[in-house]
Amino acid sequence: TMLPLLLLLLATAHALDKLPYIPTLARSPLGGLTTASTFVLEQPRCVFTEVPSDAVIWLVVAVPEAVANFNNSVGPGTPERAFQGFPGSTPAYMTLNTTILNYPCPKPSGEITVLRVGSETSCARNEMRPTCNGPLSGPGPYRVKFLALNGSEPVAETGWSKPITLKTAQPPSSIPVMGSRHSPGMIALTSILSILFAILLASLVAML
Ligand SMILES: *[C@@H]1O[C@H](CO)[C@@H](O)[C@H](O)[C@H]1NC(C)=O
Ligand SMILES: *[C@@H]1O[C@H](CO)[C@@H](O)[C@H](O)[C@H]1NC(C)=O
Ligand SMILES: *[C@@H]1O[C@H](CO)[C@@H](O)[C@H](O)[C@H]1NC(C)=O
Repeated sequence: TMLPLLLLLLATAHALDKLPYIPTLARSPLGGLTTASTFVLEQPRCVFTEVPSDAVIWLVVAVPEAVANFNNSVGPGTPERAFQGFPGSTPAYMTLNTTILNYPCPKPSGEITVLRVGSETSCARNEMRPTCNGPLSGPGPYRVKFLALNGSEPVAETGWSKPITLKTAQPPSSIPVMGSRHSPGMIALTSILSILFAILLASLVAML
């Protein structure tokens, strides 16, 4: 009676390898690397170790609502996965396709191993380039994962990233000027100091 269940498990395990890796934002010593229309991810190095060498690794960018029922079988470059329809008419697009050869493992030290999502402005409106890595049109949030296709068959995927929120473009006047705002700690300190000064003054007056 366990056999059909076991076979089912084997079949699903063979169909799509679910890797524990979660895509993460790259960090620089100066903080996060997001702008109003782009973000930078760590490359998935040493992640797709079992896929055929000619499998193509795609990046999927989706609105969070699309994650639960995401269909891996909808091919990249189709209208349902076109950058130009995102996020209005398509809840996800696929871009940054490359083979595993471009994500060598281990990663050589000192090499730049990041991916900037949203860096290709030239194809953003070109319907003939549905896999365009175009600039994102709003702050999101977005969730991303890597998906490996062997031909058109999904063979491995990573987990979905945490929601990624981009910077909101602000008019310069609304950006707070450094030092013009006082922290709560500073306000408390100022109040305590003025109370102490008042007590000191009161005792001086009493002594006269
Ligand atoms: C997923 O997409 C494929 C290809 O478009 C389609 O054949 C299949 O029915 C879809 N699966 C679900 C559960 O919608
Ligand atoms: C990526 O996809 C585009 C469009 O489908 C294709 O022209 C290009 O050759 C692909 N590149 C790689 C490395 O698979
Ligand atoms: C990849 O595709 C080829 C041909 O389409 C097939 O022979 C091979 O078994 C597939 N490999 C995996 C791991 O699915």
